[in-house]
Amino acid sequence: MSITYLADNNAWLIETTSTAYVFGVSENNSLFHYYWGSRLPHASDYPGLGPLKNQHIYDKGGIAALEYAGWGGLNFTEPALKVTFADNVRDLVLVYQDYKIVNGKDFTGLEVTVKDTYFPLQVKLSYRVFADTDIIERWATVINQGDTPVRIEQAMAGTLFLPSPGEGNYRLTHLAGRWGAEFLLNQMPITDGKKTLESRRGHTSNQATPWFALDYVQPSGSGADEDQGQVWFGALGWSGNWVISVEQTTYPVVKSVQISAGINPFDFGWHLKPLQSFKTPVLSFGYTNQGFGEVSRLLHRYQNRHILPAKFLDTPRPVLYNSWEPIRFDVREESQIKLAERAARMGVELFVVDDGWFGARDNDRAGLGDWTVSPSKLPEGLGPLINYVHSLGMQFGLWVEPEMINPDSDLYREHPDWVYHFPNRARTESRNQLVLNLSRLDVQEYLFNVLDSLLENNDIAYIKWDYNRSVSEPGWPEAAPEEQREVWVRSTLGFYTLLDRLREAHPGVSWESCSSGGGRVDLGVLRRTDQVWTSDNTDPYDRLFIQEGYTLGYTPRAMYSWVVDSPHWLGKRETSLAYRFHSSMMGGLGIGGHILNWPEEEIATAREMVGQYKQIRHLVQDGLLYRLLSPRHGSYTAVSYVREDRQEAVLFVLTLGRRLGLAVPRIRLKGLEPATLYRVGGLGTSQITLSGAALMEHGLSFEHLAYDFASTMVQIKASAMS
Ligand code: GLA
Repeated sequence: MSITYLADNNAWLIETTSTAYVFGVSENNSLFHYYWGSRLPHASDYPGLGPLKNQHIYDKGGIAALEYAGWGGLNFTEPALKVTFADNVRDLVLVYQDYKIVNGKDFTGLEVTVKDTYFPLQVKLSYRVFADTDIIERWATVINQGDTPVRIEQAMAGTLFLPSPGEGNYRLTHLAGRWGAEFLLNQMPITDGKKTLESRRGHTSNQATPWFALDYVQPSGSGADEDQGQVWFGALGWSGNWVISVEQTTYPVVKSVQISAGINPFDFGWHLKPLQSFKTPVLSFGYTNQGFGEVSRLLHRYQNRHILPAKFLDTPRPVLYNSWEPIRFDVREESQIKLAERAARMGVELFVVDDGWFGARDNDRAGLGDWTVSPSKLPEGLGPLINYVHSLGMQFGLWVEPEMINPDSDLYREHPDWVYHFPNRARTESRNQLVLNLSRLDVQEYLFNVLDSLLENNDIAYIKWDYNRSVSEPGWPEAAPEEQREVWVRSTLGFYTLLDRLREAHPGVSWESCSSGGGRVDLGVLRRTDQVWTSDNTDPYDRLFIQEGYTLGYTPRAMYSWVVDSPHWLGKRETSLAYRFHSSMMGGLGIGGHILNWPEEEIATAREMVGQYKQIRHLVQDGLLYRLLSPRHGSYTAVSYVREDRQEAVLFVLTLGRRLGLAVPRIRLKGLEPATLYRVGGLGTSQITLSGAALMEHGLSFEHLAYDFASTMVQIKASAMS
């Protein structure tokens, strides 16, 4: 990993273990993008630095692959930054000013400053690379050094350019869906024009996630797959309105593809006062020529080392129990105690009380906002239940939804002006709730105090932080007129500040980002939460598709999944307990069924499976993920997780709705050491020993899984290991 300034070329070369990113100063003093792809042997190999030319850099007519384009001149594609100056000038021409290389403990950073040719507006472009990942981070800071305000109308973390595809093409992969069907994989060819992925909902959203991958499709039509092919990918760390746009133009002669990612300009405006600065979210991006499998592994490792809070990275994520599905709002002390006893017998480590423990919260129509314990459900407060849970050897966790409020709540009766609203307009409810405006410092302060004292007065190890609706009527009438559209960004920053302050005040607490399952998952929230609730859809079969998409972009360490009752409430599908476990064991494991109704033999099975999970969870949470058979392609799915030193692996094989009585094909493993001998258990026979080469070339047979919704977990260990 290194960042080098090449004086002869007036350019910067950012290199990770296997990739490189190059940009430099052009003749007219603007910053040009030169290269993004595999690391090459010599600096002079890179276009822009040596004899090679980059075809889509057109300096003459003003159209250019500009590293960070202001909107102005002949630039007709998506600009990185658009502003209006105090004199109403809307033309922004950014030219190079200076640079600095910064060496941190485990990273190297680069700051390149550009400024407008006339107005004292400066933009600092920051880049950062870590020693142990192939991911590059970038973001921009806009600094007003003048004495009049500047209005920011569009602010991207950056623009990325792909090499011109020539006779070939690019294909976009993105993750999209809806409530109960999040993170589904979508693929489409890139053609001339622009494709926009975005949220305008005030949170990351269940509909789309700020992640993209573009693979090169050869003229013959073949693109990347799990194991091979060139893929350029990235993810944005922003939990508010975000946008990623992919734009292909053919002007003047060759196809040129650019990707912009940042704050959604829709309904956005920022009044940048003199001497103030505005920082964009961070865009993390990477490249591989080893297909989508490597995309995921690079992102997982990066998230496990540099995104997730460091505090809990050395400990396995716990097995949890949550009674939301069977009990809903009726969280009474007596029944929670019984559930806790059962959960403890199964080996659960964290017992979570979900919605319903506070205020008048007997259903979703009242109580949100009043974070005091319900005296009818928990007469002596949370204390006795927490103590009992501890006496059973488990930690205690609690659900909250701090940013939300029911109109039928004491808080709303007292502070109706604390929610987003426009004067003389309806306040549209969703799930009978409105959204508190966290742009307001008084709202932030109030929530900090409420949550701080909840954590101060109770021994709580984990908080599930929910956010169950999108924002409507985003009005903030109390703010100055020119600042009212800052609400989208300020409320997201308010959420981050609140969570950061709480984490600092209560370092022993771990946090989950929920948002109706999957509605707030992005690299911004993952910097401050230890796990996420993936989807409210807990059907173990549906979940395989959701998990497949999720793991393309995000780490299984954070991906929670519950084992619930069968038949499932959503589609009445019946599955065995083992199947439900195997589906959920591919991330952080939870149990969410009505365990008081589970017969003794199911409790025993659950206990055994929780025990098995504890043996392999280090592989799932911290290992290398290989998607061996996609559920999208047939009647089976197989996923394996391999320890980084290749000495140990676990394989999950699950059948779906099998067609025409076809047997499970042999599953060939990946990522093992060919010469190492491995002991393999869990095939329905006694343990066998095979070389890595045999496991990868010939594979394993699963004839015993000859029915719908059958499953197994196979443990693979180098025989040298005890
Ligand atoms: C959301 C969450 C659920 C549960 C309910 C409680 O839907 O995703 O897991 O916590 O809220 O109201």
